[in-house]
Amino acid sequence: LKLGVLISGRGSNLQALLDAAADPAFPAEVALVLSNKSDAYGLERAAKAGVPSAVVRHKDFPDKPAFEQAMTEALEAAGVELVCLAGFMRLLSPWFVERWHDRLINIHPSLLPSFPGLDTHRRALETGVRFHGCTVHYVRTIMDQGPILVQAAVPVLPGDTEDGLAARVLEQEHRAYPMAVRLIAEGRVRVVDERAEVVGDAA
Ligand code: GRF
Repeated sequence: LKLGVLISGRGSNLQALLDAAADPAFPAEVALVLSNKSDAYGLERAAKAGVPSAVVRHKDFPDKPAFEQAMTEALEAAGVELVCLAGFMRLLSPWFVERWHDRLINIHPSLLPSFPGLDTHRRALETGVRFHGCTVHYVRTIMDQGPILVQAAVPVLPGDTEDGLAARVLEQEHRAYPMAVRLIAEGRVRVVDERAEVVGDAA
């Protein structure tokens, strides 16, 4: 399965996908990395892995449709079949989301539906939840909502800081994202009534 990974920065989740794909047994490959920022560190990760990348800056386009059209053209030219958002910090329009319906996934640093949006780790600490984590889900037009593919939970420990908790969650993100991609690539996911069912799962 050919992946297009959309980034805006650090790209550690991109790295997790590149590392997974380095194993010939992994059923997906990163065909294109797209960044909306020219200084995103993830672009260097792509270069190191020998994966094509491109910068599509929203500022270079008159409006959002033109920006998203350009991204779509680049993804299609690379033969991308599944788009993975990995720290991509632009909100995508309903047009783009529908254009890639059930072929567009995101990783979010909370156990959705808790804590959609930004500052999830700070909010988890403020709320006093005992468990926190990450979610890989199909993207829908409402931000951080959509059929859930994989979740991983971590404990919130007494005295946790935002950074400590973020690091504990990030470790799980790097496992969860390749796992979700593998499920899709193996054809094991069906979306029924806006729930993602994993074929062969006991539940
Ligand atoms: C991750 O925490 C991801 O869940 C969120 O943005 C962060 C991106 O980190 N959507 P990285 O760029 O993958 O290192």
